[in-house]
Amino acid sequence: MTDATVVMPMSRLVERVLNAAVCGRRYVLGIAGPPAAGKSRLSVGIRDALNAHAGSVIAEIAPMDGFHLSNAVLRASGKLARKGGPDTFDVSGYLETLSRLRSTPVGEPVAWPTFDRAIEEPTPSGVIFDRHTIAITEGNYLLLDDLRSGSWSGIRKLLDECWYLDADRNVIEKRLVRRHIRGGMTLAAAKAKTRQSDLPNADLIAATKSRADLVLQAYNGRYHAIAQ
Ligand SMILES: Nc1ncnc2c1ncn2[C@@H]1O[C@H](COP(=O)(O)OP(=O)(O)OP(=O)(O)O)[C@@H](O)[C@H]1O
Ligand SMILES: [Mg+2]
Repeated sequence: MTDATVVMPMSRLVERVLNAAVCGRRYVLGIAGPPAAGKSRLSVGIRDALNAHAGSVIAEIAPMDGFHLSNAVLRASGKLARKGGPDTFDVSGYLETLSRLRSTPVGEPVAWPTFDRAIEEPTPSGVIFDRHTIAITEGNYLLLDDLRSGSWSGIRKLLDECWYLDADRNVIEKRLVRRHIRGGMTLAAAKAKTRQSDLPNADLIAATKSRADLVLQAYNGRYHAIAQ
């Protein structure tokens, strides 16, 4: 944490989204950041606060994680050990579905895949958007602008605004090791997966932070905006 921070209570984040989401079509907020930074938790918090504020269901989450390639596909292409890397997602599917979600008139259904962490596989049509006027898409590589990484660079222009949720490297390292152990790995395997795969991905993602409109970090139970 630097000294140049401003506390951003949920009410202020909600106000920011509502003030911007007057674009005549479904508004798309992106939340990017390294693995285990807390993107899913922040997305749920924003969605629930937006819906509570509106008194109806106006917001839903469109997770980038729904576009994980299946374990069978990753195994066949020798990428299973690197699951979570930029080339282990169906990036064209994400791009195409996000574009459709943004342009389909509110009220017409758009199916979005979710990710089931219990089985580590995507669930097709895990969530259906229809009357939602706000979509929150969250994931690691939303701000990637690297020609070597395929078409990720096309995502940014589909996001009306993109936030970056930062977290200290030692914090995400601990969370990732814990998560892998919960998923059935030994401590040694969990540490190896975190150091060899997750943290290099986190470093790649950290290099995309400057493309965000707002950088947040959770500290002492509250979100802070970090001056860049
Ligand atoms: N502000 C916070 N304070 C304490 N713990 C948190 C906070 N945010 C997230 N966590 C914890 O960190 C872990 C990772 O959070 P979460 O799943 O939301 O991260 P993520 O960025 O979505 O990860 P991934 O990229 O792998 O999907 C969870 O156990 C969550 O409860
Ligand atoms: Mg998540």
